[in-house]
Amino acid sequence: MTAESREHVRRHYDALGDGEWHRLTGDVKGRVSLAVHRRLLAECVRPGHRVLEVGAGPGRFTLELAALGTSVVVTDLSPVQLALNEEHLRGTEAETAVERREVLDVCDAGRYSDGEFDVVVAFGGPLSYAFEQAGDALRGLLRITRPGGLVVGSVMSLLGTWRHLLPGVLQVAEAIGEDANDLILRTGDLRHKAGNDGHVCRMFRSRDLDALVRAAGGEVVVLSASNWASLGDQDLLVELEADPSRWARFLEHEIAACREPGAVDGGTHLLFAARHRQP
Ligand SMILES: C[S@@+](CC[C@H](N)C(=O)[O-])C[C@H]1O[C@@H](n2cnc3c(N)ncnc32)[C@H](O)[C@@H]1O
Repeated sequence: MTAESREHVRRHYDALGDGEWHRLTGDVKGRVSLAVHRRLLAECVRPGHRVLEVGAGPGRFTLELAALGTSVVVTDLSPVQLALNEEHLRGTEAETAVERREVLDVCDAGRYSDGEFDVVVAFGGPLSYAFEQAGDALRGLLRITRPGGLVVGSVMSLLGTWRHLLPGVLQVAEAIGEDANDLILRTGDLRHKAGNDGHVCRMFRSRDLDALVRAAGGEVVVLSASNWASLGDQDLLVELEADPSRWARFLEHEIAACREPGAVDGGTHLLFAARHRQP
């Protein structure tokens, strides 16, 4: 990642401010995504675990980690997001789970000792913002995770985003030209959008993510999409959500579907849990 890309992303999240707080609660597909992420987290952390949260943002998953009985070092590239994280947790029981907060670029975990965390969490795409340094960044996160511990994260999905946002993608292709669009689809790198003035990140295919983890000395132990069926008819889903027992069943089916090999590339995000590769 160039210093310029890092600055671009930091400015984006500084300016977005509290808008990020509503990303996973403001609409029904966001709430499903929250449920999919929460399930993976609940499977990967235990009470008493010491967790590094990377790209924590305003604190959706800091709250979850606190509720799961962990202690958390909360970090983010954006000082504004870190301040919001503190604001959202201030005065709640969850704040007692926070060991400290500090600015951290996912590419620069050198300040932490080998194996000092039980689990490292990087939800919502910090690795998608590391661009060409994503492999080194992941190697760094695995280094600071104890043997047997997990790096749990999510990155933006290339194929699922293409499918879900096709009308917008076609508009962009028209604006930037089909060659630039081909390049985006080949590399997942949205910096090929001319001008780079909007949101940029690197999107992944599941096979890219698997290769990245393996090259960093790890192995993927859980892979999931977010979302699958819940990217469909939103009005129908709102109706379903109003019926708690049908909704609970739907969520169970959705979480299971998201982990099917045939579905993992179909959501807007790819979730993973990775550990040091076993000899
Ligand atoms: C989409 S938000 C996700 C927030 C939270 N983890 C969640 O999933 O709700 C992405 C977060 O990653 C942070 N971020 C972006 N680039 C990063 C980097 N290179 N290192 C660490 N954090 C980064 C942003 O500032 C932002 O707070």
